[in-house]
Amino acid sequence: MGRVIAVANQKGGVGKTTTAINLAASFAAAEVNTLLIDCDPQSNATSGLGFVKDPERISSYHLLMGAASADEALLTTELEQLWLIPAHKNLIGANLELVDAERREFRMRDAIASLRERFQFIVLDCPPALDLLTLNALVAADAVLIPMQGEYFALEGISELLDTLERIRAALNPELAIEGVVLTMFDDRTNLAQQVKNELKNYFGEKLCQTTVPRNIRLAEAPSHGKAALVYDPRSRGAESYIRLAKEIIERQPAAFSSQPSAVSLTPEGTEERGGEAVPEAVEEVAAAPEMDKTA
Ligand SMILES: Nc1ncnc2c1ncn2[C@@H]1O[C@H](COP(=O)(O)OP(=O)(O)OP(=O)(O)O)[C@@H](O)[C@H]1O
Ligand SMILES: [Mg+2]
Repeated sequence: MGRVIAVANQKGGVGKTTTAINLAASFAAAEVNTLLIDCDPQSNATSGLGFVKDPERISSYHLLMGAASADEALLTTELEQLWLIPAHKNLIGANLELVDAERREFRMRDAIASLRERFQFIVLDCPPALDLLTLNALVAADAVLIPMQGEYFALEGISELLDTLERIRAALNPELAIEGVVLTMFDDRTNLAQQVKNELKNYFGEKLCQTTVPRNIRLAEAPSHGKAALVYDPRSRGAESYIRLAKEIIERQPAAFSSQPSAVSLTPEGTEERGGEAVPEAVEEVAAAPEMDKTA
């Protein structure tokens, strides 16, 4: 049974999409079947993986409206073990169209139920709002990963997010856990960044991921090339940080999960001690591989 992780924070521009794309790509590069679902009408995760706008394509909108099955929506990507369910800007309409719909908060959960056996990770990229789209992602999820920018106002709005999670647990999805809080665009050389990190550590304790994501130009450039950072520049600090984050999250999963045969290669072998760089072999293969074609 796969783990469904929603990447959410109603604050805009904190690194949700960058995290969703690169975390999903890092899971895939570690040889676990992974699905990225774009739940944001801005469709940045879709374009960031190189898919141009196409109103005809089956998308997360169709899933929420019950107009297509998740199977029909799956797209293969450049990475052999990464699939995508794209978004389209018409998704914005789903917020209104679903208002009176039956099980309106459970649409995504119901739609992906049949896929949970096939993917070890399903990563959902949420829009910057606590709207019905984010709600659907959080009801579908086992856990939420919260990217936060390492800046002075990092904690602003977080109580609203935590209240929302509490309400979802009480009424819609009692199992919803916090997978972690990850600091993004983090510059560990400044005192301010260290202060913010300490403050978040006090607030979130063990939930604060040990891995921080540095501000790195490669992470910002990669989507304009339609590639995850580990394909665009596997040795960049940005790509490496997401590979480490994926490893940290994988290691937190219950033993039953990591003992699955396809997860064996996830053990840290080969990921460390190479001139200080942390690039798993799988990533190098991925980076070297030509276009791959594989159906789910
Ligand atoms: N670690 C990083 N280093 C440098 N640039 C980054 C980093 N993370 C994100 N960015 C850039 O910051 C901008 C916002 O990032 P991103 O789109 O991931 O945020 P978001 O939370 O998904 O935004 P939105 O709320 O609009 O969906 C993008 O231009 C992205 O390329
Ligand atoms: Mg985004």
